[in-house]
Parts: sequence; C-alpha cells; structure tokens
Amino acid sequence: MKIAVLPGDGIGTEIVAEAVRVLQALELPIEMESALVGGAAYEAHGHPLPESTLKLAMDADAVLFGAVGDWKYDKLDRPLRPEQAILGLRKHLGLFANFRPAICYPELVGASSLKPELISGLDILIIRELTGDIYFGQPRGRRTATDGHFPGAEEAFDTMRYSKPEIERIAHVAFQAARKRSKKVTSVDKANVLETFQFWKDVVTEVHAQYPDVELEHMYVDNAAMQLVRAPKKFDVVVTGNMFGDILSDEASMLTGSIGMLPSASLNTKNQGLYEPSHGSAPDIAGKNLANPLATILSAAMMLRFTFNQTEAADRIETAVSSVLASGLRTTDIWSEGTTKVSTRGMGDAVVAAITKTITKG
Ligand code: IPM
Ligand code: MG
Repeated sequence: MKIAVLPGDGIGTEIVAEAVRVLQALELPIEMESALVGGAAYEAHGHPLPESTLKLAMDADAVLFGAVGDWKYDKLDRPLRPEQAILGLRKHLGLFANFRPAICYPELVGASSLKPELISGLDILIIRELTGDIYFGQPRGRRTATDGHFPGAEEAFDTMRYSKPEIERIAHVAFQAARKRSKKVTSVDKANVLETFQFWKDVVTEVHAQYPDVELEHMYVDNAAMQLVRAPKKFDVVVTGNMFGDILSDEASMLTGSIGMLPSASLNTKNQGLYEPSHGSAPDIAGKNLANPLATILSAAMMLRFTFNQTEAADRIETAVSSVLASGLRTTDIWSEGTTKVSTRGMGDAVVAAITKTITKG
C-alpha cells in the first residue's frame, strides 16, 4: 500500500500530520512518502505541481491530500496558482468520480444552522464529475492577453463541455452507489438553459435504462440548491457536473454544521484515489493548532475502504472518531457549551488513543 502524502498549504500540514499518525497507529504495511504541493511547492520549486510531486502521486496507489491555496497567490498567472495543483492531479490521474458525503453526526446536530429536525440523520452522497465541464473546457482564457491579469482585455470566456462517455461513466458510478444505499439518484442539471446539460440529462436517462431497480429524478440546479436547505433528507445520491457539484457540495456540507468533518474521495477507473477533506486551506487559522483534523482522518478511512479494500481498518478509524465525539471532545469549529475544546493535535491524540485501545483489545 503506497501512499503519496501531499499536505499542501495553510492548515493542510497540520491536519494531514494527524491523519498520518492515525494511519500509522493501525500498524498496517503502509508506505508513505511526502511531497510539496500548491503554494508550498511554488515557493520551493516555482510550480504548484512539480514533476517530482506528480510522479510520486502517479506511482502511488493513493494520495492523501491536505488543501491548497492562499489569497497571497491571487496575483500569480493562473497556471502557477496553488489550485492548479489539485486540478492537475485530478486531470493527470483521471480522477473523474468525486464522492462527497454529507453526514450529520448525531452529536453535532446542534452545530447546523438549520433546525435539528431538518438535518438529524442526514446522509447524502454527492457524486461530482471531476475532470470535465467548464473546469476543463477549451479554449480557456481571456482574449488578447499575455499575462495573468490582462488589464486591456475586452472579454473572457470558458467553455462548458461534456462528452457522452464522460457522462455515461459518472452515471454508472451514481447508479451503482445508489444500489448500495436507498436506490434513488437525483441528477442535477440546467437543461432548461444549457445545451451541455440537456445532453447530460439525456445521457443519464439512457444509462438509467440499465438500472430499473433504481429511481431516477432530474432536478435543475437552482431548485436543488433550494431543496437542499428546505428538505435535505429528501436527497440520497446526487449526481452532477463539475461546477454544480463544487457549489452544491459546499452547501450540503454546511447543512451538517461541520465542514471540518467531511471527507472526500476522488477515484479513477483503476481505483487509484485521491483523498482529501472537503474543506479548504483556511489560511486564517493556519499554524495555530486550531483546525479540525477529522475530515482528513475520515478521508484516510475512505482510502482504506475504497482503494485498499481494508474495510476493518476503515471501520476502526470511523468507530474511533465516533467514540471521541461521544466522549465530548471538540475542536473550535464544532465546539458548543458543555463539550471539551481540544486542539488539532489533541484531537489527533484522542483518535490515535481510541484506535490503539481497539487494537489491544483485539
Ligand atoms: C474543491 C475546491 C476546488 C474546486 C478548487 C480548490 C480548485 O473548491 O475541491 O471543491 O473548485 O474543485
Ligand atoms: Mg469547492
């Protein structure tokens, strides 16, 4: 089991360090190697995704990724900005299927901005297509420009596109995931306005014919954004394109009150995967030992489950996280009256201790 560890920027280094300690506590035959990515790699090597980092990731079975980005890089040419590192990894590794679960932990019901009855027991799986759409359209850029900021440019454009095979494969992923859950898929589009998404809708409908046991519903993205806050529990598996998935997954994560809790997995056809928390690099709290490492720790559990088929080890991590929450430990982002505030490291320590206990018990 070879893991490329790419902590990245901001809180990335702190949260990934805790996930690494958790993986080590499992005492499995795991090899881990780290490399710089994002702004940190730009500072050291002049590029957010250096050749050596990309190679490490491509040669590994899985990538454990922290987060990239900082406002201070906003003035760089686009190809040199930290975000290009994650986009490059997705593209080069062909990580087209992005799983973003939004689960409301019973202990954290009170942390949501929605009423408890709306979100208690919430368990949605957003499946976002990750290597197509307007994110990777051609051509891409502003006209008549040579530098990143084009003071004299008259227009800017990005193209939205999807090919049939791209839609088909993500649709299969969604229907198969639904078979293991409550057998319902909501496909989110904007077919009323965009040709790309009329095509999306048609292709998803065509693929659905192979899954008569799964219910398929189509929903426009604006309506989906509204329904997510009106009655989120009506959703189960949501499948959508890259851009809508970016937006809706942030919305869904916040329903649970704790974006700091949500892991994600991005897989290719070979089951190689990149695992990262759903949240960003949070430069404002970086280096302060405040960030919640649980999303990254739970991403490591997803890695064990999806890429390595180590169900038991994955369960062990998830059980440890639940027991730590049940014991009342909270990082600042999920803290509430009556619970105990811990640091990033303190939370990592607690999860490691809970795992070690289960190992000793056998
Ligand atoms: C995400 C992030 C990325 C995206 C950025 C950092 C490029 O927002 O993973 O959701 O837009 O996909
Ligand atoms: Mg996003």
